[in-house]
Amino acid sequence: MSKLDHLVPINNVCNQKCVFCSAEYRMQWNKPIPLKNIFKDILEKWDYIQISWGEPLLSPDLFKILFFIRKHKKKCFIEFQTNGVFLLKNNNLDKLQKFNIDLYNVNYPCHIEEINDEIAWVKWSQTLRELAMKEIINRWLNLRINIIINKLNFIYLPEIVDYINENFAWLDRIQFSFTKAMWAADKNDEVVPLYEETEKFLINALEKCEKYNIKVDVDHIPMCFLWKYYEKHVDFNKMKMWENWVFLTEKNYVNRCNNCDKKNYCTWYRKDYLEIYTESII
Ligand SMILES: C[S@@+](CC[C@H](N)C(=O)[O-])C[C@H]1O[C@@H](n2cnc3c(N)ncnc32)[C@H](O)[C@@H]1O
Ligand code: SF4
Repeated sequence: MSKLDHLVPINNVCNQKCVFCSAEYRMQWNKPIPLKNIFKDILEKWDYIQISWGEPLLSPDLFKILFFIRKHKKKCFIEFQTNGVFLLKNNNLDKLQKFNIDLYNVNYPCHIEEINDEIAWVKWSQTLRELAMKEIINRWLNLRINIIINKLNFIYLPEIVDYINENFAWLDRIQFSFTKAMWAADKNDEVVPLYEETEKFLINALEKCEKYNIKVDVDHIPMCFLWKYYEKHVDFNKMKMWENWVFLTEKNYVNRCNNCDKKNYCTWYRKDYLEIYTESII
């Protein structure tokens, strides 16, 4: 099963314009997604549903969709992906709680407001996002803070972990996802950093997670850049179990992989990354 098998693309509008946004909807702003397509999609999912794509809290059909999911997939795990800005508006969090959302995944650009604004391309989103994150924790709901590693925030990764530890210590986990070079980030070296330049900051951030006892996952970066933390890679267990991992079609084995002891379960370099930063592809 691939990651896309979990995704329910719910809408195609958003209040932010993140510099790295991989959502294809940015190419088709005005085309609403028909509800019947969304319902059909839900019926095809099994035990895990990710509500995502634009900003789900801007979908007028969000609660109809959640009602449909809980009616037809009572026990299904629901991951709700949001930038968090509207969670406390119109009692949205109260309403979401009624549908037993299993995981709130909040897209968190940076703890420094100017960097947040540069990444999200809107002002004032930081305060609302953080208030919502605090409220998720206050209600003992599961919060995953998702940090997309990009050119504007990578030097702050260790500081971000300190900040999270001070302010959101009861979160479920942090996820560091390296920017996939798609859509807004397609062939974009102003947004996608080199793996090598992020390495020491990411390792330092992972050391801090270890020190603070914060659970952490890492995604979309080859395992060799994680040093002793390679088991934190979200693909590590999946690759070991030999799932039907279609995302390998997005990856390339490079010369560096030849002498690597992790080459049999690593997912290697993303092809879209290699379109920006050429390596010797085998
Ligand atoms: C496209 S967003 C849609 C949901 C919601 N608006 C949000 O930002 O969470 C879904 C998830 O994809 C992540 N994402 C967006 N662009 C990405 C990229 N280029 N590489 C990796 N993850 C990305 C976001 O951080 C978010 O966690
Ligand atoms: S990543 Fe999410 S918040 Fe950012 S522009 Fe894309 S859909 Fe909107």
